[in-house]
Amino acid sequence: MIIRTETEKDYGGIREVNIRAFGNREDEANLVDRIRKSKGFLPSLSLVAEEEGTIIGHLLISKAEVVGEGSVHEVLVLAPIAVEPSRQKQGIGGRLIEEGLSRCRQLDYDVLLLIGHPEYYPRFGFRPARPLGLELKQFPVPDEVFMGLELKEGGWSRVRGELKYPEAFL
Ligand SMILES: CC(C)(COP(=O)(O)OP(=O)(O)OC[C@H]1O[C@@H](n2cnc3c(N)ncnc32)[C@H](O)[C@@H]1OP(=O)(O)O)[C@@H](O)C(=O)NCCC(=O)NCCS
Repeated sequence: MIIRTETEKDYGGIREVNIRAFGNREDEANLVDRIRKSKGFLPSLSLVAEEEGTIIGHLLISKAEVVGEGSVHEVLVLAPIAVEPSRQKQGIGGRLIEEGLSRCRQLDYDVLLLIGHPEYYPRFGFRPARPLGLELKQFPVPDEVFMGLELKEGGWSRVRGELKYPEAFL
């Protein structure tokens, strides 16, 4: 199994793995397609897990904004992540996230934010974001599912305000 950047040839396989991982619905596959066409898309942060020519996992990290009083801070958001149902709980999601984090740390962003399973993401260092000064009003989710991870030292102290997901997410 290898983790690598997506190419155009992977688009179909990425759709399929997202549809299957999210219980045969197309919402997340469509979300990926919309983000890819948007200005927040970062090509090096759309990662696939490939095994023998088949896409068995996908992770997408893209740009969003945190809007504070008189400030707009560009941040990263992780969504979605999908692993082929028959291959879940084998560490593939973990490998995608670790590679994604390593690539994010080479870029110039303070934090990576997400909405996700509170049992899963803390193992990678994610912590609830609201107590650290972030707000999220677009999606009224409980505090424990709105999480973030500091990518650069002091990152949390520089990011204050409301996370605004771009149009592609709405
Ligand atoms: C979430 C997901 C990407 C994790 O990938 P994975 O390859 O199964 O994850 P890993 O093998 O690296 O890690 C497995 C761990 O994740 C946990 N996990 C997997 N899915 C989970 C879920 N829906 N809720 C909570 N924990 C979950 C497992 O319980 C396991 O925990 P353990 O190590 O304590 O036993 C994958 O399960 C998936 O595609 N799920 C469906 C789509 C989805 O929910 N995406 C995330 C939206 S936030």
